[in-house]
Amino acid sequence: MIKSNGLNKIRIAVFISGKGSNFKNLINSSNKRNSKFQIGIVVSSNSNAEGLKYSKKFKIKKIINSVNTNLAEKILISKLKKEKIRIICLAGFMKILSKKFIKNFNGIILNIHPSLLPKYKGLNTHSRAINSDDQYSGCTVHYVNSKLDSGKIILQKKVKILKKDNSVSLAKKILLQEHILYPKALNKVLSNL
Ligand code: GAR
Repeated sequence: MIKSNGLNKIRIAVFISGKGSNFKNLINSSNKRNSKFQIGIVVSSNSNAEGLKYSKKFKIKKIINSVNTNLAEKILISKLKKEKIRIICLAGFMKILSKKFIKNFNGIILNIHPSLLPKYKGLNTHSRAINSDDQYSGCTVHYVNSKLDSGKIILQKKVKILKKDNSVSLAKKILLQEHILYPKALNKVLSNL
């Protein structure tokens, strides 16, 4: 059997700030037979992010960058270009990318958000869904534009909110669905390239 050397794979970067369970899940997905993508780099806004342990374990280059100044943006863009990154997957990345960064990257940027957008952009999505007595919440993968959580939706998955749910139990159930949805949405995007 010929082992894939990754030559024809689309190179992606994953941006994280915290636990990195979606990052780990994308790594697993990239290691599957017939995967069309490979993770060239992980960018973390925070040097203590728990998810960085996967960069070590799976030997993925890491960059610490908060993308919060002109200089930081410039440095990151040039690294992404050098690494031939065509797609950025935001995965629990708690920084807002500027219009200029998005324009200068000149590739595709995706985000996963823990609500059924356009409902509950921003933070605390689970408690807002519960407090509104919604029957369902869920997760969304969407393209990133310069407005928060507002780009074109690629895929969504609904999750039923039970009477006994609180924001912690709901977050857990939704995270499991995120792990199915993100690779599926990324593959959908890749198949249209
Ligand atoms: C995920 O639930 C993701 O949807 C959310 O942060 C969590 C990260 O988990 N993202 C946002 O809220 C972005 N607005 P992870 O670090 O285990 O992947």
